[in-house]
Amino acid sequence: MDATETIQTFLEFFADLGHQVVPGSSLVPPDGDPVLFTTAGMHPLTRYLEGLPHPQGRRLAGVQRCLRTTDLDEVGDDRHLTVFQMLGSWSLGDYDGPRSLRWGWELLTDRLGIGRDRLHATVFGGDEQAGPDLASWRTWTELGVPVEPLGPDNWWSNGPTGPCGPDSELFAWTGDGPPQGTPGTDQRWMELWNHVTMSYRRHDDRSLEPLPQRSVDTGMGLERLLMVVQGQPSVFGCDVFRPWTTALTGLWQPDQRSLRLLADHLRSSIVIIGDGITPSNTGRGYVLRRLIRRALTVLWRPDSTRTLDDLPASLVEQTLTQFGRHEGIGLVREVLRGEERRFRGLLSRGRTVLAQFGPGQPLTEADLRYLHQTHGLPPELVTELLDEPHAQAGPPHHRRCPDIAAGRTRD
Ligand code: ALA
Repeated sequence: MDATETIQTFLEFFADLGHQVVPGSSLVPPDGDPVLFTTAGMHPLTRYLEGLPHPQGRRLAGVQRCLRTTDLDEVGDDRHLTVFQMLGSWSLGDYDGPRSLRWGWELLTDRLGIGRDRLHATVFGGDEQAGPDLASWRTWTELGVPVEPLGPDNWWSNGPTGPCGPDSELFAWTGDGPPQGTPGTDQRWMELWNHVTMSYRRHDDRSLEPLPQRSVDTGMGLERLLMVVQGQPSVFGCDVFRPWTTALTGLWQPDQRSLRLLADHLRSSIVIIGDGITPSNTGRGYVLRRLIRRALTVLWRPDSTRTLDDLPASLVEQTLTQFGRHEGIGLVREVLRGEERRFRGLLSRGRTVLAQFGPGQPLTEADLRYLHQTHGLPPELVTELLDEPHAQAGPPHHRRCPDIAAGRTRD
């Protein structure tokens, strides 16, 4: 089953159960929202999960593009992505958590064909503020699904304050051979689908106030689901990444880790730019800048003449379309081109600055701060520059900057 069929199966399943399909929103949350990016499918629905009636009713489903920077350093492993699509279903004060779990189980096993013996559930085991989630525990037990009670991992909130509650997660086994251990003891169990019973609002003082109505908020990463449904060892093996793998391999023959990082960061950058963000030194623009520059750093390591201009327009178009955008190819290419030019300029200035440091002495923390603040050279970039074959200077902590001065960050 390819991505389109999988999304369709998900939405039709919930539509048949009386859910209205809500359109996906931008990665940029509405004005006044404290969160930088939309990180979960529920994000555009926060007010409705808190009790406001939704114009489309009490049962909703949809697909939402999401971005999680917390996972940035894990990108390149088998299952973490920066920008991804989240399939979601919601009960706004309608049916309860156990109903959602039963439907979820039916969809995964009967409709999507995932082996029952490859799934494991977890539930909230209780803490000093809220009791254990016995209803979910009973449901899984009745369905014959192995279940494990866990602690804070099974409490979901979208931020320090706002709607929150216990969640029950379904994990899929990704190891070779028969499943072993539990999600709490074996990392090869991969979280697939989270069902949250939104029961409380958390206040600034950390206290919990029961919400006027209990809601259910579920979220399942599309690429992870495809990995399981399509029997791939990683998210990068599923069909949505095939055009990326083909294009990047044809252009640059990157090793596996570089290929994954390039595919994730460039795909994410395209979606972010498609939502109207441009690179800058703060906020969302900084996240975008970091993604593009990390990708360029990997791209240029073996050959600095490579350019993002070589990315086929069709790849940009396919990516935008996959994420529900039907325009913006020209803008995306222009923004990527501009950031590449700026970064190239910065690197060239950086090489000149570092060449002025005589060889042999260590770079201290203060030196790195100076290089960052005055010359706009972040420490990781200095490390990269010093690792270059013809670098004049030695590695950080082996050299010393003679002149520490505060200054403005330039780029
Ligand atoms: N909002 C929940 C999550 O993102 C479903 O995991």
